[in-house]
Amino acid sequence: MRILILCHAFNSLSQRVFAELAAAGHEVSVEFDISDEVTREAVALFEPDVIVAPFLKRRIPDEVWRAVPCLIVHPGPPGDRGPNALDWAVLEGKPEWGVSIIRATGELDGGPVLAYRMFPMRHARKSSLYRFEVTEAAVAALAEGLAMALGRIDAPAAPPDTTTWRGAVPKGLRRIDWQADDSETILRKIMSADGQPGASAVLAGLNVRLFDARPEPGVSGRPGTLMARSGGAVLVGARGGALWIGKLRLEGDKQFKRRAVDVLVEHAAPEAQATSLPEWPPEPFAEPGRGPVRYREHGNVGVLEFDYYNGAMSTGDCAELLPVFNEIRSRPVRVIVLAGGSDFWSNGMDLNTIEASMSAADESWANINAIDDLAEAIIRTTDKLTVSALAGNAAAGGVFLALAADEVWARDGIVLNPHYKNMGNLYGSEFWTYLLPKRVGEAGVEAVMGHRLPMLGRQAESLGLVDAVGPNDARRFRAWALERAGRLADRGWEDAITFKKNNLLAEEQDKLLEAWRAVELERMKMNFYGFDPSYHVARYRLVQRTPHAWTPLYLARHRCIGAETRNSIETADERR
Ligand code: COA
Repeated sequence: MRILILCHAFNSLSQRVFAELAAAGHEVSVEFDISDEVTREAVALFEPDVIVAPFLKRRIPDEVWRAVPCLIVHPGPPGDRGPNALDWAVLEGKPEWGVSIIRATGELDGGPVLAYRMFPMRHARKSSLYRFEVTEAAVAALAEGLAMALGRIDAPAAPPDTTTWRGAVPKGLRRIDWQADDSETILRKIMSADGQPGASAVLAGLNVRLFDARPEPGVSGRPGTLMARSGGAVLVGARGGALWIGKLRLEGDKQFKRRAVDVLVEHAAPEAQATSLPEWPPEPFAEPGRGPVRYREHGNVGVLEFDYYNGAMSTGDCAELLPVFNEIRSRPVRVIVLAGGSDFWSNGMDLNTIEASMSAADESWANINAIDDLAEAIIRTTDKLTVSALAGNAAAGGVFLALAADEVWARDGIVLNPHYKNMGNLYGSEFWTYLLPKRVGEAGVEAVMGHRLPMLGRQAESLGLVDAVGPNDARRFRAWALERAGRLADRGWEDAITFKKNNLLAEEQDKLLEAWRAVELERMKMNFYGFDPSYHVARYRLVQRTPHAWTPLYLARHRCIGAETRNSIETADERR
């Protein structure tokens, strides 16, 4: 089928839907929902059999949904309608939620439900539910909805008898009242608005949005007052508890999420004492531990989690993670599993921290060097086997950091973006020039690096980028990875270690790791400090969430008719 994906942005769900439909053999093209005129034009050019809208904020123009079946993915169960479905579900603590595939009509979310899936809710932030439960439910329901829309299955699964329109969550319900709200209510408000738009509050006299909240068990403090700091997070007292807040965004134009400590130190009045808060050190080795880095041992297998918000790894994060990794290297385990973060395994450098720094070029340089130090430490771990176990998505440098391990295992449902091109054509580092050809061969390098599209774990496996794909369910994937790592630690471990040591020695006789790194960094220096500002522009746009003004040609294939080669398409994208 010819399927047009119409979406507000090519977000994680749109990427997954795109990759699944393409893998199923459909001809897929993407158009951003910029205006009715642009949508009509896309339909005229592509002549799709069906339009799928995984993430849409506006109504589809009448003449389009009348002419072509349009399937809307709505993150709510049958009968639910409105723009903030998942926000409401988190806010109200619904025990179960769902995703519906709605056939578009003139009424927003008001058409017949063609298919749906329900799932139990997790106590998690909205964005996390969206990336896991909603995405899985959407992919499953969409397959059924497509068959129905094309007349291959007869009756709608669940025609809604009553529908309830719920508008946007009012500002008042997003606002934290430190005196009236208890800590659980505050946590729900923050989680229901995380990633966007954030729960609003006054903290240390500043009007801010709060993100990345977690409770500190057994502690309470005066509501709304700062109690301590740990890494970049601050502990805030609440009625009946205390919450760590990892990220803040100042209210106002051009502001974006940053480490809470940085925002407070820079902007809060001195009497707020953000600078002199007691420091509670991260505790990666303790149970239950504190901070984004956690280490646990299971017999001969050590599991290291580094759960950085949005998978972004700043210079400071990497500098904090490296000594932990080095300490683990001295532990009596045979296999180290790098479990990364729960939502994202890693997305590489922390672009927000870079954007906020005095010199973006200097901070980028520091950040890439810090990630490279970590990658090198992983590669040089020759007395243990290492595994990257990707339960969450990964992009750019995050993917290549994963390749530093001996084995790379992926959860079935993840989406990988193993390329740097979308970040202003960065050359990339993390030893990719050394690691990638070994995995995929020289021809494979072009297949991986030469495009800008997302790929599924399975596709990465067929390219050799990933060694094995495990169960789709995140919990089952972790158990699967642990069991598999246990087997690596048992059978043939000594031989594997001997091979690994000798192999690195032999390879370094030919070319030192430092040399691979130096060549990559020379190119990165040009990206950061050179005349071409593409990286700085792309970073600014991502951090500032600049709306799309057009759909890039690598996605809008229907606009490429007449373009001779992919290179010409890419060049056109770069020029724009
Ligand atoms: N640094 C800082 N923030 C990052 C990030 C990074 N490297 N990668 C992703 N994010 C943030 C996004 O800004 C967004 O922030 P929000 O919570 O304020 O909305 C959030 O993570 C989710 O990203 P989004 O693009 O909405 O999600 P997605 O799942 O649809 O797409 C990516 C994920 C990774 C494909 C996309 O965000 C991306 O291309 N990131 C940049 C990767 C990169 O170039 N890294 C640096 C080079 S090593």
